[in-house]
Amino acid sequence: MLRLSLRTKLIVSALIVLMPVLVLLIQSYRTAYDIQRNQLLAGEVDVALAQLQDSLWFSLLVFAIVVVMSLSLALVLARFLLKPLNQLADHAVALGHGELQRRVRISTGDELQKLGEAFNAMAEEVQRALQIREEFLTVAAHELRTPLTIIKGYSQWLLAKEEDEEKRKRFRAVVEQSNRISELLDEMLTVSEIRGGRFAVHKEPVDLASLAREVINRMQLMTDSHRLIFRGEQRAPVEADRSQMEAVMTNLIDNAIRYSPPEGPSPAKIEVAVARRDGGVVVSVRDRGLGIAEDKQQHVFEPFFQIYPAIAGYGGLGLGLFISKEIVERHGGRMWFESAEGEGSTFYFSIPALDELRSVG
Ligand SMILES: Nc1ncnc2c1ncn2[C@@H]1O[C@H](COP(=O)(O)OP(=O)(O)OP(=O)(O)O)[C@@H](O)[C@H]1O
Ligand SMILES: [Mg+2]
Repeated sequence: MLRLSLRTKLIVSALIVLMPVLVLLIQSYRTAYDIQRNQLLAGEVDVALAQLQDSLWFSLLVFAIVVVMSLSLALVLARFLLKPLNQLADHAVALGHGELQRRVRISTGDELQKLGEAFNAMAEEVQRALQIREEFLTVAAHELRTPLTIIKGYSQWLLAKEEDEEKRKRFRAVVEQSNRISELLDEMLTVSEIRGGRFAVHKEPVDLASLAREVINRMQLMTDSHRLIFRGEQRAPVEADRSQMEAVMTNLIDNAIRYSPPEGPSPAKIEVAVARRDGGVVVSVRDRGLGIAEDKQQHVFEPFFQIYPAIAGYGGLGLGLFISKEIVERHGGRMWFESAEGEGSTFYFSIPALDELRSVG
């Protein structure tokens, strides 16, 4: 089908409407011509020529007036129709980008107004449904926390006092899995805080180098199949929310462990580096695991994106990187990565260095 804008379609329609007017004028001109021809034959040459000229000018004038009037009408109609339609299109795009509170205002008193009202009702419904989803997630996560804390507490206590290795293995599995559920609940709550505008950053001086070493030591205790290595600065002070920085590092190292299954008996290596660069502190986590295919890379920071959702052992919510990037950006930093499928990935984040902040401030 021919793709024409509404404006062009209206102008073409106006021209089509003009065609019969043109035919009519030609016809009347021909009649006038016949009359004058008869006069000519009767020998009244001057009178006939003058009349012919008059009727020609008159026809042209009428035609020009009709053309101008119908084109103006077409343009006015196009403007009248296009303005509300453009408004609807803009609002639909904004709604798609999450601006749920925007509403269209069309008061043309016709079908376009009805369309606008239907659009607003739909936006209201979407906003309400999302609000219910957020509330449900928050309440569910809070409600699940209390029984989970009890399960965690008892299983840790049972693990601590058990000597039989077989039973210890089972208790350890319960402790690990309840830790995992607790992490997932935290992720759900953080996302609902971010989306609801309730996510707060409490900054204090933090040394990212020693924090990275602490996180590495804690996480190394949970895996024998990976070797976590620290490289880089002894001190890397920044102004940041300590627990949020810890969450970002934990997520990056957790991903590096999860997506780099060891090949062979020796543990897979994961390198965590902390470097000062361009007035910032750059933390990087490098694995030599599965890597990320080029066509998937653009989606990695989107919420709920997972490359291997169905494969057992890779389970998560696909929220870790979305949250981490959000945290880093709220600290005035940046997060990025390099990856090649089958070769591994390096995830980086940078935070403005404290010296830099002080000299600026
Ligand atoms: N180091 C990595 N190597 C390969 N793929 C990765 C790596 N880190 C992330 N990914 C891919 O990006 C996806 C999103 O990661 P993200 O951390 O946001 O979610 P997740 O690890 O699946 O779940 P969780 O919410 O528990 O963190 C992962 O599912 C994985 O497919
Ligand atoms: Mg993750």
